[in-house]
Amino acid sequence: MNLRVRSGTPLCGETRVPGDKSITHRGLLLGALADGPSRLSGYLDGGDCRATIGCLRALGVEIEQAAPDQLLIHGRGLQGWREPEDVLNCVRSGTTMRLLAGLLAGQPFYSVLSGEAQLRRRPMDRVALPLRQMGAQISGREGGRLPPLTIQGGALRGITYELPVASAQVKSCLLLAALYAEGATTVREPAPSRDHTERMLRGRGVEVISQGNVHTLQGPAEHLAPLDTVVPGDFSSAAFFLVGALLVPGSEVLLRHVGINPTRTGLLAVLRQMGAEVATLDPREEGGEPVADLLVRSQPLRGVEVGGATVPLMIDEFPILALAATQAEGTTRVRDAAELRVKETDRIATIVAALGALGAEIEALPDGFEIRGPTPLRGVAVECYGDHRLAMTLAMAGLVAEGETTILGAECIADSFPGFERCLAALAQGALA
Ligand code: S3P
Repeated sequence: MNLRVRSGTPLCGETRVPGDKSITHRGLLLGALADGPSRLSGYLDGGDCRATIGCLRALGVEIEQAAPDQLLIHGRGLQGWREPEDVLNCVRSGTTMRLLAGLLAGQPFYSVLSGEAQLRRRPMDRVALPLRQMGAQISGREGGRLPPLTIQGGALRGITYELPVASAQVKSCLLLAALYAEGATTVREPAPSRDHTERMLRGRGVEVISQGNVHTLQGPAEHLAPLDTVVPGDFSSAAFFLVGALLVPGSEVLLRHVGINPTRTGLLAVLRQMGAEVATLDPREEGGEPVADLLVRSQPLRGVEVGGATVPLMIDEFPILALAATQAEGTTRVRDAAELRVKETDRIATIVAALGALGAEIEALPDGFEIRGPTPLRGVAVECYGDHRLAMTLAMAGLVAEGETTILGAECIADSFPGFERCLAALAQGALA
């Protein structure tokens, strides 16, 4: 499916973006291990979370749609999953594969995790190595570096592990395996990453002690309490409209019920450094996560330097930051972000190729990119390489580029933001060709 976007219409009005992808994955997984039924309202019905649902059903967990935006997960307890009859298909979802790997390492059965070509290119040694140290037998292509991964789980022991890169997926994988391990598991991150797993485990009655970047869980856990949670809107999805509204003159957008967990909102801090004013209205807490409404109007931006500990706090927002930088006065430089090379695509290469095709002055660095702005963009037909966040970035670019922008293969947007087109059409009437 191609998405055609015309420039010239401001973004005006209010909207609610779909539920948070990370929190939905975790709600599904922990719900499936809880003692009894869990309710997840406002969950993300996107491709990645559907992959998690499919895997859990194959592990014997019943999941039903209780209402249009609500799932009922019939938890089978920590020991209640059964050996799957076939390969578990994680489709394109790295979170599904890495978090499930941690839990499957603790199960006394054999399982295989695979998915589409995009996912089969992504590194899994980052979870396979520490899980092997905990006692699981894991293999995969290239010595366990690439999927499919086969896992023979069983008795695990706690370890102390220093993460080579800040990664919430690896941290979460190990904390989930720790539920099954004898003794303490301690995970040290080089910088803080999103903490939804720690919050949700605590909400289930599991003690996770966090001191700065060091997290410890004493295993094995005996049981998990069911959850009844409203999932906040995904900040990473809101980010596209946030930046779109900043860039298109005459815009004013109110984004309701957005998760503002500080381990996710690095982009807000960076946009503020670029000169943006974004109002955080009615801050509140829901299901153990901070939530607010965000109000934003079009404003001029200036270039910024991004690196260090800010990077993991906005790891999924570099495509849309790059677009903002093309319209900002001066140079923007992103460093310390080599992790972008192992996302859904090599995002350093694909951001540079896609925005470059629209006329941006952008150059790749080994661990980031440099952009000189402001540059007028011109609408062309452009590839998104099957990367949902790049596709949505290009849709926003279409609002500022001269003429019409066609995003080729935009169906991947549904991996994280089903209904994106409808949202865009409602806020920017006439922008969709
Ligand atoms: C996620 C963590 C991040 C992020 C991904 C979701 C999670 O990955 O890019 O979209 O839910 O834990 P890394 O942990 O690999 O940085």
